Amino acid sequence: MAEMKVTPWEVTGEVDYDKLRRDFGLDRIDQPLLDRMKKHTGELHYLLRRGIFYAHRDLGWLLDEYEKGNKFFLYTGRGPSGNTHLGHLIPWTFTKWLQDKFKTELWFQITDDEKFLFKDGMSLEDSHSYAIENALDIIALGFDPKRTKIFIDTDYSKTMYPHAVRVAKHITFSTAKAVFGFTNETNIGSIFYTSMQAVPAFLPSVLAKRNIPCLIPLAVDQDPHFRVARDVMPKLGYYKPAIMHSKFMPGLGPGGKMSASDPNSTIYTTDTPDVVKAKIQRAFTGQQPTRELQKKLGGNPDICSICQFYRFFFEQDDKKLEKIFESERDGSLLAGEHKADLTERANKFLAEHQKKREKARSQLDKFLLRD
Ligand code: TRP
Repeated sequence: MAEMKVTPWEVTGEVDYDKLRRDFGLDRIDQPLLDRMKKHTGELHYLLRRGIFYAHRDLGWLLDEYEKGNKFFLYTGRGPSGNTHLGHLIPWTFTKWLQDKFKTELWFQITDDEKFLFKDGMSLEDSHSYAIENALDIIALGFDPKRTKIFIDTDYSKTMYPHAVRVAKHITFSTAKAVFGFTNETNIGSIFYTSMQAVPAFLPSVLAKRNIPCLIPLAVDQDPHFRVARDVMPKLGYYKPAIMHSKFMPGLGPGGKMSASDPNSTIYTTDTPDVVKAKIQRAFTGQQPTRELQKKLGGNPDICSICQFYRFFFEQDDKKLEKIFESERDGSLLAGEHKADLTERANKFLAEHQKKREKARSQLDKFLLRD
């Protein structure tokens, strides 16, 4: 297995989440913290119960403030490099749950500038049109339009830019090099970019003319941006944002995160039923080479991509999930049926989602902020 590498732009190798947490300097979301969350939310979200949102920065502080009556806002984002896949929906559905439970505002950044700067062959026109397409997926999840603001960087830059330069003045090239691995050959837009990602963590405070705590749910690869931002924000007079970090949803192949670089093991929200069926048909289950051996020896749900799809997304009931895992372990559920069940479940979800996604086209104006 290749050595683990996790940056905001590249994730390779087998991810050792505990090592990553220590390397990044994150705290674990432990039982006392979960109990504390539960006091405010009632039942915990399945992604918390299953340790998929597993690390944090300053969540205890955020809850202290909340308990004192100092409400927070949520901030998360999307880099529009292509169509949305199921892995992207993980932090977004969790964010929606937080919004519903804590009745907070959500600021959702879509970084067409970032994907243009970092991706070879990506035009600004294309990343902007992916941004709109991705916004449909976000809206389709059911965020509250009264509390949710979605903004595409190049459409909202007049508001953001003055604050981005305030951040940028506090970040040296050597810091950016050390944190992101930039070289002298890196284009200068990429070097500046992290200051654009920092802005929404305090923009609501600027606009409200008072300091408001911020909570950022994200996939763990995005942490480096906020490591830098958290150093800068007190210098501008704002709180450091709190962060909750998730693991990556695996793809349908053997190991590795769901990623656009491996489209066959990735389910997009726009995939047709036939495409979904074909992708799941080829999925890795890690089952024994023959039915007889599988019946006799059973399989391993931890490496079975179908089982993991249920764990991360398609089965939110813990008892039902355990049943699926057990039938993988005891050899009673053979690959064919296992795949057929998931295909049905996935296509049912996607049919609903695609309907909501189309409806969302007429709602864009209710959500999008533009200068
Ligand atoms: N850089 C992120 C990506 O490529 C997009 C993003 C912008 C983001 N702001 C964020 C992600 C805040 C999480 C939280 O996907």
